[in-house]
Amino acid sequence: MPSPNLDELKARIEAHSRRLTEALEQIRDPRSLEELRNEFLSRKRGVVTLLFEDLKTVDAEAKREAGRLVNALKTEAQSVLDAIAARLAEAAPAAKAGADSAPDPTLPGERRPYGAAHPLRLFQREIEKIFLDMGFAIEDGPEIETDFYNFGALNFPPNHPARDQWDTLYVGDDLMLRTHTSPVQIRVMEKRRPPIRIIIPGKVFRKETPDPTHAAMFFQMEGLVVDEGVTFAHLKGTLEYVLKRLFGEKTKVRFRPSYFPFTEPSAEVDIECLQCGQKDPACRVCGGTGWKEILGSGLVDPQVFKNVNIDPERYSGWAFGMGIDRLAMFSLGIPDIRYFYENDLRFNRQFTLR
Ligand code: PHE
Repeated sequence: MPSPNLDELKARIEAHSRRLTEALEQIRDPRSLEELRNEFLSRKRGVVTLLFEDLKTVDAEAKREAGRLVNALKTEAQSVLDAIAARLAEAAPAAKAGADSAPDPTLPGERRPYGAAHPLRLFQREIEKIFLDMGFAIEDGPEIETDFYNFGALNFPPNHPARDQWDTLYVGDDLMLRTHTSPVQIRVMEKRRPPIRIIIPGKVFRKETPDPTHAAMFFQMEGLVVDEGVTFAHLKGTLEYVLKRLFGEKTKVRFRPSYFPFTEPSAEVDIECLQCGQKDPACRVCGGTGWKEILGSGLVDPQVFKNVNIDPERYSGWAFGMGIDRLAMFSLGIPDIRYFYENDLRFNRQFTLR
């Protein structure tokens, strides 16, 4: 076999190079790309390998130049292959989306997990609805409070023993997790003038040892009415109406004299123990007393009005704070407050709004 001369080798290399330029434009799928790779770079039969073999027979003086040309072709082949691979990869997602756009109606549907409101939230809404029907508005306030709003403005002097029952976590010298929703009474009265008729649902925190009816975090619903001529009779009538709407016309309710620094007079309200129906002396919910305390209330102390610049000679008001958790327990027949906070979905999903 005659040894190829340089010109002939050059012509072949140029032809291969043109083939690469065309392929760069034309190749549209991975399989053709693979074929092109084999055609040029296959170890045994690839164009480049064969050209290197031919080099051995080229005249000595032309070898150097011929070697350079074959190497250049090899580099060109490699970069063309890389460029095509990159182009195909970029086009791939679009190609895939194209395939997906013809839906297969025989595939099972996509399951969308749906949530459900927590039983406490459901019950909160139930209470809200009763008050909204009576023309109350819903207000909201921060869960981290200053000493002034949680205590001072509510008439707790700095070292008053009433603070002991309301021990909590302090976030700084003057900041604490609020122990009740009453601070929002102050916040609202500071910025609005009577008549005021609001409820304030929210989270509160206390130093409590957990048991079936106590948790260190729970929910309250505060209520506040301020207007001219408001009396204790309004407080009593409204709360009785609300509790009977929640628990039924026959539910026994009692008012007990009590003390709060920010109300005078004050009353605590109990309802009959709906867990044992006042019948079980060993009942874990009422401790055998037959009654369960569900809220604190009273007429707004004149000093509180002075603290927010409302004239106590002209206006009077009443307020209450009820434990949403306890009421929900009775209403939904839940024996332990801690179930609300365990996030066991088997528990949470049992409840729907009536
Ligand atoms: N804030 C009181 C508590 O948490 C309840 C209360 C509210 C009492 C409003 C009177 C008036 O126990």
